[in-house]
Amino acid sequence: MLAIRYNARSFSSLKTTMNKSMNPAPAQILDGLAVSAAVLTSVHEAIAAHVRAGGQRPGLAVVLVGEDPASSIYVRAKRKDCERAGIQAGDFDLPFETSQAELLALIDQLNRDDKIQGVLVQLPLPPHIDEVAVTNAISVSKDVDGFHAFNVGRLALRQPGLRPCTSRGIVTLLNYYGIRIKGRHCVVVGASNIVGRPLGLELLYQGATVTTCHRFTEDLAFYVRHAEVLIIAVGKRGVVDADWVADGAVVVDVGINRLESGKLVGDIDFERAAAKAAWISPVPGGVGPMTRATLMQNTAEAAGIDVAEPIMP
Ligand code: GUN
Repeated sequence: MLAIRYNARSFSSLKTTMNKSMNPAPAQILDGLAVSAAVLTSVHEAIAAHVRAGGQRPGLAVVLVGEDPASSIYVRAKRKDCERAGIQAGDFDLPFETSQAELLALIDQLNRDDKIQGVLVQLPLPPHIDEVAVTNAISVSKDVDGFHAFNVGRLALRQPGLRPCTSRGIVTLLNYYGIRIKGRHCVVVGASNIVGRPLGLELLYQGATVTTCHRFTEDLAFYVRHAEVLIIAVGKRGVVDADWVADGAVVVDVGINRLESGKLVGDIDFERAAAKAAWISPVPGGVGPMTRATLMQNTAEAAGIDVAEPIMP
């Protein structure tokens, strides 16, 4: 087993925090729909002021290759968000057969287009296209997904540029409700390039003590039991048992799974986790809309427009 040793002082202070915040009441909801709406309003206001002052409306190129049903739904939602935020969406729907060279040529053209401040290529790409090559072909300054190796490296080195949307959106969501991250033990379950890895870097940047668990972690229950903030991003229902959640923990569920009944659910059993947690994000209506609103925020910022982050009134 992978052994982690807390020194006696930090371990007992963790337990004290937990005891103080043990919740006899069910968890409060981290309402991603409401907070993302507040972010979009903030982006809209910032862009409107910029345009009133004679600035150019920001443009976001949204590139979809093929017709993957889930990707098509996400892209449609992103284009709708552009309308809400006052961003000009450029739609590039390419056939599945598009070659890597053709896609790279389009990205090169978008990188040079001064009406476009953000370039988003929806993932996953068809298997004949190298995602790493495509991601790193996007201009660093237009990489509003924050997936370019240079932008991830900047975050790792505490020199953030454009930051990955899901992890930044989770921080915005927690900040909105005044939930402290700095100094707390945050456990991330999942180490994907899109969510888990950048999230670990983002939380470290925010001053958290971070544990990242992944497919090779030998005693997941141990780490989850010691999480003050637990973020699950695996995309597999039941990967974390709700019984493992510490009393008073903050639970953020990034997973989206469809049950046979058609119902959308997260990675953890919401009701059982909510009985133990102090705060929990629902699925749907939690992290998903925060990711999309943060994409709009990143696009405004890529255009040099500052966006005020909303705080609970
Ligand atoms: N596929 C799943 N999530 C994302 C995302 O945040 N950005 C892009 N480009 N593709 C995705």
